[in-house]
Amino acid sequence: MSKPFSQACENNKQPILDKLLVHFRQASRVLEIGSGTGQHAVFFAKNLPHLQWHCSDMPANHAGINQWLADYPSANLHAPVPFTIGQDSWPLELVVDKVDAVFSANTTHIMQRSEVPIMFDLIQKNLPEGGIFCQYGPFNVNGDYTSDSNRDFNQYLISQGCGGLWDIADLQVLVSGLDLLHQYALPANNKLLIWQKC
Ligand SMILES: C[S@@+](CC[C@H](N)C(=O)[O-])C[C@H]1O[C@@H](n2cnc3c(N)ncnc32)[C@H](O)[C@@H]1O
Repeated sequence: MSKPFSQACENNKQPILDKLLVHFRQASRVLEIGSGTGQHAVFFAKNLPHLQWHCSDMPANHAGINQWLADYPSANLHAPVPFTIGQDSWPLELVVDKVDAVFSANTTHIMQRSEVPIMFDLIQKNLPEGGIFCQYGPFNVNGDYTSDSNRDFNQYLISQGCGGLWDIADLQVLVSGLDLLHQYALPANNKLLIWQKC
């Protein structure tokens, strides 16, 4: 199998890291939900050496993630655990070695609508008080798209059977136990949302 590659990850990893350096400063163990290719994981683990980075995803993506981890190993970077939202409970390994932060990029618009509340519920139940969830991706604001390209992208997602873009206000309504601290505008009409367990 050829190694998966995402140009978007290469483009967005530095702007995301700039914020993680601030908001994961106190974090010691991070669970990434939906690691995808593994490109974010290898870059963030290398540049955040004070913390442990645990990949996770649906099993079909693990072989590709493991190729990236093999090519760019870090002592603080951990092989993916199977974690399919809507199917699995919180990974057992990370109940024992508790995570105090979560990262997820470009997942909520891919998941089914019913899976997103489940993801937030699991995060708020498993983060300690003060724990941080950094969520990157395209979102709507005040009931509207932030760009024509996001509107077109949403149509494409729906045609593919994905759940589609969420409005940040709708996320705030459904999320309990997490406060939205920051909404950063990042390149390519995406945002980084910083949630904190209250
Ligand atoms: C567009 S990719 C993003 C991958 C990577 N985070 C990135 O930013 O490049 C969407 C990811 O969400 C994952 N995903 C979709 N539905 C999921 C679910 N129900 N539970 C866990 N992961 C899911 C996919 O396997 C995939 O890795």
